[in-house]
Amino acid sequence: MMMASTNSQSTLKWWQISAFVAWILLAMHILYHNGGHEPAAPKNMPPEVGGTIASLNNEHRDMNGHEPTHGQHVVVTGGAGFIGSHMTMHLLEHGYAVTILDNLSRGNAGAVRVLREHATKRGRLRFEFVELEDETAVRRILRDARNRGTPVDVVMHFAAIAFVGESVAYPLNYWTNITSNTITLLRAMKHENVNKLVYSSTCATYGNPVSMPITEDTPTVPINPYGRAKLDAEDAIRDYAHANKNFDAVILRYFNVYGADPKGRLGEYPPPNLVGHGRVSTACFAAAFGHIPELKIYGTDFSTGDGTCVRDYIHVTDLVEAHHLAMAKALSNPPSLYNIGTGVGVSVREFTRACLSVTRRNITVVEHPRRPGDYAEVYASPAKIKDELGWEARYRDVEEGLATAWRWRERHENGY
Ligand SMILES: NC(=O)c1ccc[n+]([C@@H]2O[C@H](COP(=O)([O-])OP(=O)(O)OC[C@H]3O[C@@H](n4cnc5c(N)ncnc54)[C@H](O)[C@@H]3O)[C@@H](O)[C@H]2O)c1
Repeated sequence: MMMASTNSQSTLKWWQISAFVAWILLAMHILYHNGGHEPAAPKNMPPEVGGTIASLNNEHRDMNGHEPTHGQHVVVTGGAGFIGSHMTMHLLEHGYAVTILDNLSRGNAGAVRVLREHATKRGRLRFEFVELEDETAVRRILRDARNRGTPVDVVMHFAAIAFVGESVAYPLNYWTNITSNTITLLRAMKHENVNKLVYSSTCATYGNPVSMPITEDTPTVPINPYGRAKLDAEDAIRDYAHANKNFDAVILRYFNVYGADPKGRLGEYPPPNLVGHGRVSTACFAAAFGHIPELKIYGTDFSTGDGTCVRDYIHVTDLVEAHHLAMAKALSNPPSLYNIGTGVGVSVREFTRACLSVTRRNITVVEHPRRPGDYAEVYASPAKIKDELGWEARYRDVEEGLATAWRWRERHENGY
């Protein structure tokens, strides 16, 4: 009797433990697969954006049954950002299937919504809310695509934080986000057998060269952490290609990107707290709306024609066309390298005048001392890409290009 009683107690315990373990496993499965679980908003994001992420992810789940059935499949990292969203629109319009990888730390969920609306066929676009530091997550995305029968053909790696001044203040963030994340991405691609990469680099890799225009043979002597981190990421790509002959890449060094989709669907809207760090066109528009009290010109004592910095402003639609061509014709081992610019230098004062003319608003322009890390004069020689790929910038007049940016921004004062 005593024995039987002990057995029945131990049987009961066994079932209790089994049920408990099963319950734990089920809960872990649900959490892992994100069923009903809303991802936390990325750091520094306002709560309303966190809400947008959750709803984007729900929409994304809805899209899972509508996979692309033809055309190449391109992963666009940073596809919610300024350049990545324009690239995605271009790819969708040219029949590609696109998967965006973005943590929305800087980009806009609203841009992804616009892209979804304009995807020519439902299911051509996926959005993956992912932090690129997370190699396991990136590998899972690449692997899942293959398992669904739509393997990734090419990765276009735009995702990065990209403000020179910010890189001087927070260099370690730049080394992690740019160099380390590129290596992580390469690892994920290697493991999942994805062997084509188009890489977003920058003229900041050249630093402050003694002679202009900058060709691809101009020595690279970057003078700020942003440029150094990008150059090291390029080197990692070149070293990896050297060791893996089935891997092809093309590295594109852009000059100053501006403008917007001429049809007015997309635009540039960096997080408001970064406008001060950022590009002259977004600062000008912020001043035009009165969001910031003045438009600052940093440095009027450079050795340039009018004392302000000279830059080569390349329109975003020209830039994405260059990417398309590079992807089609220039992926190679060792990786090929091209400058993407107009070949024409425009001073900050000239750019500011164009901006005032386009916005037709009262803007207070105030001259300030130079910022650390800024260089005097930078413009490209785009001869190599013209000779080899037949690409040339179509927007030559910054006022015309800025008009496209203002067209979107005037109707989207507070972004998407
Ligand atoms: N805008 C320019 O003038 C310019 C010039 C030269 C090179 N570039 C390069 O072009 C690329 C795109 O620049 P942009 O102007 O579109 O910037 P952006 O800030 O508008 O877009 C970058 C996107 O990357 C995402 N992102 C950043 N870190 C991430 C991470 N760790 N994981 C996942 N997503 C992440 C952001 O959320 C954002 O959507 C960058 O690599 C930049 O260095 C830009």
